[in-house]
Amino acid sequence: MSPRRIGLMSALPQELAAVLAHMPHEQRQRLAGRDYWPGHVGDTEVVAVVTGIGKVAAATTATLLIERYGVTGMVFTGVAGGLGDGVAVGDVVVANGLLQHDMDASPLCPRHEVPGYGQSVFATEAAWTAQLEQAARRAQARWASQLGPATVATYGLQHPKTHTGLVISGDRFVATAPESQALRQRLPQALAVEMEGAAVAQVCHDFGVPLAVVRTISDRADDSAHVDFNQFVADVASATSASMVLDWLTQLGATQGQK
Ligand code: ADE
Repeated sequence: MSPRRIGLMSALPQELAAVLAHMPHEQRQRLAGRDYWPGHVGDTEVVAVVTGIGKVAAATTATLLIERYGVTGMVFTGVAGGLGDGVAVGDVVVANGLLQHDMDASPLCPRHEVPGYGQSVFATEAAWTAQLEQAARRAQARWASQLGPATVATYGLQHPKTHTGLVISGDRFVATAPESQALRQRLPQALAVEMEGAAVAQVCHDFGVPLAVVRTISDRADDSAHVDFNQFVADVASATSASMVLDWLTQLGATQGQK
């Protein structure tokens, strides 16, 4: 049996809180400005960590998860702004690839390509992505009873969808309609925008460590994004993130030893 230790990452404490509630006996460790919780969820060894916001914070955290904590895979969860047509607040986007939308070393290489890599999109682990898609659908079916009718009505969570596709990352909170429109035109295949995933994907690529990214849509990256984001993070994000990741970990635990 190959021992697994999975890094569970979120940018904000609110996004990780309900996962940590399932690890009540674990000790927090402070390292290089971040809080790490090595421990277990069910039978699976995990290291939970709040990365902070942005690509550099996420990249250093991912590196320490691999080098200090020996994780053999990682999952990033939290919220994202919806970009794609029909990607609404409360929907889930599972990334099958990640791109840095603010990477631009042109004319040295094409816009978005990471210099020295010859690629702009970094793929996620296909098997985990497929499993998380299923986990998200199961979790979404439980949200109404978990969150209650008032929250469901406030955020329009009656019929949330799950999408799989490209997620783009950059060191910008996208909070105006013109900016999100420009991103949609430049990268029409992008389903969602956030600030960490593609950086973690580059680190995971460097170390040969599998990665999955699953995000709940908190806003539409438009003029009301900052209000929608703050409310969603306060009221919903912890429960939605944990419901998907914990469901997936249960599946992973059930397949320990088969891989
Ligand atoms: N994460 C959640 N919403 C976002 C947005 N609008 N821009 C960047 N990252 C986000």
